[in-house]
Amino acid sequence: MREQHRDTPENNLSIPFKFNAQNEKLIEEVLTRYPSQYKKAAVMPLLDLGQRQHGFTSISVMNEVARLLEMPPMRVYEVATFYTMYNRNPVGRFHVQCCTTTPCQLRDSDGVMKAIEEHLGIHPGETTEDKMFTFTEVECLGACANAPMIQINDDYYEDLTPETTKSILTALKEAALKTGASGGAPGLAGSAGQQEASGQSSGKQLKLGGSGYSAQGASIPAPGPMSKRTSCEPLRGLTSLNSEMWTGESTLRKDGAL
Ligand code: FES
Repeated sequence: MREQHRDTPENNLSIPFKFNAQNEKLIEEVLTRYPSQYKKAAVMPLLDLGQRQHGFTSISVMNEVARLLEMPPMRVYEVATFYTMYNRNPVGRFHVQCCTTTPCQLRDSDGVMKAIEEHLGIHPGETTEDKMFTFTEVECLGACANAPMIQINDDYYEDLTPETTKSILTALKEAALKTGASGGAPGLAGSAGQQEASGQSSGKQLKLGGSGYSAQGASIPAPGPMSKRTSCEPLRGLTSLNSEMWTGESTLRKDGAL
């Protein structure tokens, strides 16, 4: 899809962007992975770092990446607009991406989409007024064995039903409110920052626990399957390799030697 930059109050050339000290160190490390004459190969990890710091991949983020890698800005725009994981517009504190590709659709991603729309009161492509949630419909996220699924920020929530979907959204909002952090990623005016939202900043944090996150009394289900599965094993137990091992012929030496 052809995409053109249009200046907005949150995304225009007058808003400067520089990497912070922590990310500058990471960039140094990333650049060591490539021959110096090919440092433009680092464009994707640098765009990712820029998005994480700024909250979305603004025009100034792209230009700074181009400057650092000595690339024509257009080459960076081409990458950032091709890959949908670079958000070209600000997103809320929680970016909810619902997969609706065939395996998820066969296992009721329609129901999950409807649950998100009903619960948040927004449609795909929109952000809630409090800047807490952005809702996006996406193609396969590679977790088809645990369909249907959604990605929220960096986490996958799988084997969903409309009910478990709503309960995750409720828990996330409750935890965010209890930590006292406002909605919105760093690129949004008045936001407390996405890093804080995902528990990366100091102060009021969401802490990762054994069975999920907890934040000042609010608990959030751990990412992963919301069913009884721990991973992508068969839901109804083993369906193969479940008979007695055949021992008609010994394959081991009997003399004790290896
Ligand atoms: S189809 Fe949804 S994760 Fe692959």
